[in-house]
Amino acid sequence: MNVSTKANPHTAAAQLRKVSPLRPTLAIVLGSGFHHVLTELQVTKKISYAEIPGFPKPTVSGHAGELYFGQLGKTPVLVLSGRAHFYEGHLMERVTFAVRALAAFGIRDLLLTNAAGGINKNFRAGDFMVLTDHINFMGANPLRGFVDSGLNRFVDLTDVYDAGLRALLVKCGKNLKLKLRAGVYLAVSGPSYETPAEIRAFARLGADAVGMSTVPEVIAARQCGLKVAAISCITNLAAGISRQKLSHPEVLETAERVKQSGARLIEQFAGLYGQI
Ligand code: HPA
Repeated sequence: MNVSTKANPHTAAAQLRKVSPLRPTLAIVLGSGFHHVLTELQVTKKISYAEIPGFPKPTVSGHAGELYFGQLGKTPVLVLSGRAHFYEGHLMERVTFAVRALAAFGIRDLLLTNAAGGINKNFRAGDFMVLTDHINFMGANPLRGFVDSGLNRFVDLTDVYDAGLRALLVKCGKNLKLKLRAGVYLAVSGPSYETPAEIRAFARLGADAVGMSTVPEVIAARQCGLKVAAISCITNLAAGISRQKLSHPEVLETAERVKQSGARLIEQFAGLYGQI
């Protein structure tokens, strides 16, 4: 089966090359809790997703759908504000399209950020967690049906999150005196939050946090040969971990509270990345 649509990542990449002469090797995808990074970015060019063929039109408020060329911590970067989520009803092909376009553009290293619920009992709302590994519980794999004779279908995910990039994040956390957690991210399709029984099950499976994004992009990025790092803002304790009920406003509230720490962490990361 070939489920390809007409959108071609190389066409999108050509469009990106046309709008700016900047050729960064690092791209950063901003999820909930990380949009404040934009205040630290020296923007040289901003382009709406609507102007890039094949890019998604995000439907979640607060996810803008814009791609920025700029300098972050004096390092040239591409910053993506807004992503397509599986829970919005997009096909996996659409969810991962931007990552494939980044690879075609020449990006080599990808930092993905997201909001997640804390499962690990030691975690607190407002913590940040560097992903060490993931569990794909979305019930779908973005490589299913994907046909590209130049790319491996059976992608190895043994060291899915790059050790060097992870170490860089840990170093930034230390420099900023941020208590950075490390752990396993479990991805669900959403958009409902989990039941307490599901969270108990996920804890037994080895998950430290749960969220509704990132994993499809990570898998596609690894297929394209990108090095990947990812970081979660723990915006709430997962269902049943605390007595409180879960709500999207709570997620946004925590994200707002720690937005400066998140932005500094990402800025430092870009700065140190530029020195290696
Ligand atoms: N569950 C799933 N996704 C999330 C959560 C959660 O508790 N918090 C933020 N994103």
